[in-house]
Parts: sequence; structure tokens; C-alpha cells
Amino acid sequence: MIPETIGKRPFAERVSPNLLDYERARAEFSWDKAAQTLSGLPGGRGINIAHEAVDRHAQSPLATHRALRWIGKDGTRRDFTYSELRDLTNRFANVLQGLAVGAGARVFVLAGRIPELYVTVLGTLKNHSVSCPLFSAFGPEPIHTRLSIGEGEVLITTESLYGKKVAQLRDRLPQLKHVLLIGDRGARTAIPGTLDFRQLLDAASPVFEIAPTAAEDYALLHFTSGTTGKPKGAIHVHGAVIAHHVTGQLALDLHPEDIFWCTADPGWITGTSYGIISPLTNGVTSIVDEGDFDAERWYSVLREERVSVWYTAPTAVRMMMKGGAEAARRYEFPDLRFIASVGEPLNPQAVLWGVEAFGLPIHDNWWQTETGGIMIANYPAMDIKPGSMGRPLPGVEAAIVQKTKAGGVDVWTEPGMEGELALRAGWPSMFRGYLHDDERYRKCFADGWYLTGDLAKRDSDGYFWFVGRADDVIKSSGHLIGPFEVESALMEHPAVAEAGVIGKPDPMQFETVKAFVSLKQGFEASEPLRRELLGFARKRLGAAVAPKEIDFLASLPRTRSGKIMRRLLKARELGLPEGDTSTLEGGG
Ligand code: PRX
Repeated sequence: MIPETIGKRPFAERVSPNLLDYERARAEFSWDKAAQTLSGLPGGRGINIAHEAVDRHAQSPLATHRALRWIGKDGTRRDFTYSELRDLTNRFANVLQGLAVGAGARVFVLAGRIPELYVTVLGTLKNHSVSCPLFSAFGPEPIHTRLSIGEGEVLITTESLYGKKVAQLRDRLPQLKHVLLIGDRGARTAIPGTLDFRQLLDAASPVFEIAPTAAEDYALLHFTSGTTGKPKGAIHVHGAVIAHHVTGQLALDLHPEDIFWCTADPGWITGTSYGIISPLTNGVTSIVDEGDFDAERWYSVLREERVSVWYTAPTAVRMMMKGGAEAARRYEFPDLRFIASVGEPLNPQAVLWGVEAFGLPIHDNWWQTETGGIMIANYPAMDIKPGSMGRPLPGVEAAIVQKTKAGGVDVWTEPGMEGELALRAGWPSMFRGYLHDDERYRKCFADGWYLTGDLAKRDSDGYFWFVGRADDVIKSSGHLIGPFEVESALMEHPAVAEAGVIGKPDPMQFETVKAFVSLKQGFEASEPLRRELLGFARKRLGAAVAPKEIDFLASLPRTRSGKIMRRLLKARELGLPEGDTSTLEGGG
């Protein structure tokens, strides 16, 4: 039996939560006051994320405090204090200066969770360039699309990723001026058209002064996906750091003495906002594990690193649940005091499993690439309703709305109504645009509300409950995948006439990518062709995005205007009612 609420936790006795009284915190909160908890650049020269995350602490007693503990795949540990991180990020900012990479230039990094990734993101911010971390499990096509849309001028990557995924794209990336390679094993072999990252870093000065930075200056570019068209490059500004900082305190309950582990990869925004920026602005020690998910490994990281606050994702929790709570109970986690999760719906069972396995419920929270930071959360000093995403952060106004024909919105004031989740525009980490796509950006707003594309409900206690997506994007293992990107890759195969891609519900990953294809004349559906298509898509898109299943159909259902009806493909796949098919070509 799942209880309706889980009372707030007794650990409040050990560490007093930052947010003790929700209503009061909301009433007293203002973003201006929140901004004052940061220092700003010396001499009133504005606000820069990297200064707040690193330099500010490097000039304080925290200078010798461990900022990052990196755990290599093989278990090697490397520690970086705040002052070491300041010097390394200064060096990288100087490397960019040396290459004449200026303010606003897009600097991409494609790497696993290695220390260089963290150094380049922060160094790029110091240089006033725009940082864009890419997920290393992307295949060449998603990498190419993002570098093209983002007009990447610099790419930092590893020698092996370059060889496997990037070298083949170079002649299709005319704007890419510099590729800096991180050698996989010590010295790098000279590869034409590339520079040696470590050599440049070693030769650069560890002294750098951050130029004046305005709160509205562009800082980060994160790609996300929509139903149609290419991926969308959401732009975030330096002033977003106020939200990164404060949400870390309120929703993740970060305290300076914490050892914090965010398991997300910086190739997705959680791994940047909460895997790089928020823990550092809050002066905690942040754990970075290069290794992939493995339940035993994760238990041992939690225990051996004495993690006190852990931020993870439902897929990982469900995978750990598979091993049973006994697996966790073999260990002790005396330091762990707060667990949070984000990215997909967290099953009520998973919330409770936290109690069984760790003696702590898992606190769900909600946000998006576009929101830049956590917007709705379950707080330590608040009762949890398992299955609910929680309540809006202080400073954040959330509502359930319905679009009107006139282009505005009706706001549902009565509880229990299902509609689109909307946020009152204006919090500091709100995205400032989709790169080169003003129209798509404008469409996200109505009557001063940002429309999230999620369907949700609010109950009479003000808790929000996720219902589903209003569009066709797919969520798999916490990663948002655009069906169009997958369809486009499949269409490049000579046998494929049409492709339609859906998210198929999955007990572990929430959804998996499933494709339906029809074949061109002269090609016949067969098992070898299915395997070939799966391999073809995987090679182009990478394992994180490629379909896991492909079915052949004689033709795909389309609307009269020619759009593939993914909704219908999904309904048929799941054996659900087909709904309104009046726009179906040849039907209705
Ligand atoms: O559909 C919601 C789902 O993830 C989407 C945002 O994905 P992305 O932009 O990749 O952001 C990742 C940073 C969190 C949302 O629109 N989502 C996120 N959190 C939850 C969720 N769905 C249900 N419950 C959540 N807690």
C-alpha cells in the first residue's frame, strides 16, 4: 500500500533544512534578495557564472576546500580544490583568448565526464563565450546538427571521440575553426587540423581577469527536442546563476559541508545546472563519476564518498530497485540525508523504495531545459505525496492553463483540472531564446505565461501532478528525444520511404524509441533489413537516441496535409482507442 503522504523527515534533527516553512519562504522571497546572496564580479562589474562558482570561493577560506572529486572509470580518484579549479579554468580562458575566440562565440565540448569537461565549461564562461556541452553518446548526426545550429567555433573533444564521430564531419562544419583534442593516453598523436588541449592548457597563464559581464549576457546553450523540426538550442544567460544557486539550497537543501552527487551527464542540462554550477556556487564538494550506471558501483560511491545529498533520475532508481532493497541494506549510508530525482515521472513505489533502501524517501522535482533550474519540488521540510512533483519554488508561479483560440490562456483556479503546466515568465534562469528560431520561442509564451508542453494537474494543497506530454517528444532514461531527428536519420537509408517514431512505454526507461518504416519499391521487409536499419540508425544517432525497435508497415498513417500521425501509430501499438481520426488521409 502506498500512503497518500509521507511526513517530513526526522533528519531535520541533524541538519536544519534551508526551507523550513514553505508558505513563509514564498511570502518573503524575491529574486532581488536572492541575487544578493551572490557576490557579483569585483568592482560592481556584473555577474558571471564562473566567478560565482569558482573564483569567489578561491578568494575565501574555501580556497583549499575540495570542489570536485573525480572518480575515473577504473576507480582512480582526483581532487580539485576551489583554487586549483580557479587556476585551471583561468588557463582555459587564456587558451581561448590565445585563439582569439571572443565573447558570444560558441565553444562546444564533447567528452565523457572527465575533469577537462568541467574545466572547459567554466573557462568558457570566464571568457564570455557560450558553452555547449554535448552528450558523448551522441552519434555523428546529432553532433553535426547541434554544431551547425550552434555555429560552433571551437570544439574540445577526446582523441577517440574525434576519430569515431567528428573527423568524418569536418568538411560539413565550415564554421568550426578550432578542434582541441584531449589525448586518451597521455601524449596525443598529431592529427591534422587539431590542436593539443593539454599542451595549450599547460602553456597558458593561470591568471585571468573576467571581463565585465551583464546578467543578460549569453552563457550556455543547451539543445532540446520538439515534435517537429530540428533540435532547439535553448539559450541561457549569466544571470541564471541566481536560480542555480538558490534552487540548490531550497530544492536540494545544499549546505556548505555537503558532499553532493548529481549523477547526470553535463551533455544534458541537469548535469550542467546541478552537476557543475549549483554545487560549486554553494561551495560544496561535488562528486563526478566517469563510470556508467552500475548499481553496485553506485552504492559504493554513495558509501565511500560519504555522499550527503544525492540527485539522480527515476530510471536509475528503478534499475537499483530491480536488485531489491536488500542490496542497499548490505551497506550503511550514515551521511546520506537527502535524495532527489528528476527527469521523468517518479513512481510512488520508487519514493517508498528510498525509505526501504536508505531510510529516506526520494524527493521528486520537475523542470526543463528551458527553465534552466528546478521549478517544482518536494522539499525536505514538507510532507511528500508520492507520485507528485511537489510545489513551486519560492519565486516561481506555476499554474494549469488552457490555450484559448484567441492566442491567450485561461488559468484554471480550481484544483483537479487537467491542462498545460505554465510558469509565470521572469525567473532568472528562464531561457532567453531558441537560437535562430524566434518564432518557436514566441510560441512558448501567452499572456505572460511560459507554456511548458507538459500536461499536469494541481491538487487542493497546491501539489502538482504530472499527467503527460502535450506533444510527441520521447523521454527515455531521462533524456528527451525528438522523433523528427530519428525519422530523418532513418529516411537516409536507401530502403526507407517513410518513417514514424514514437515513445513506447517501458517499465525501466519510462519510454523507449520505436520506429515504424515503410519501404521503397523494390525493397522487402525482412529480419536482415530490420537489423541493418537498427544498426544504421545506431551508427548515425548513437545509442542514446537510436530506435530500439523497428516495425515495417505498408504505409504510415498521415493527415490530409501529409503529416505522419504518430499519435495513431502509438495508439495502435498500445492497442488503445484511435481517438479522432477525422484528419486521417483517406479516412474520417
Ligand atoms: O516532460 C517533463 C519531463 O522532462 C521534460 C524536460 O526534459 P528536459 O528538457 O530534458 O529537462 C531535463 C531537466 C530536468 C519535462 O517537460 N520531466 C522532468 N521532470 C519530471 C518530468 N516528468 C515527470 N516528472 C518529473 N519530475
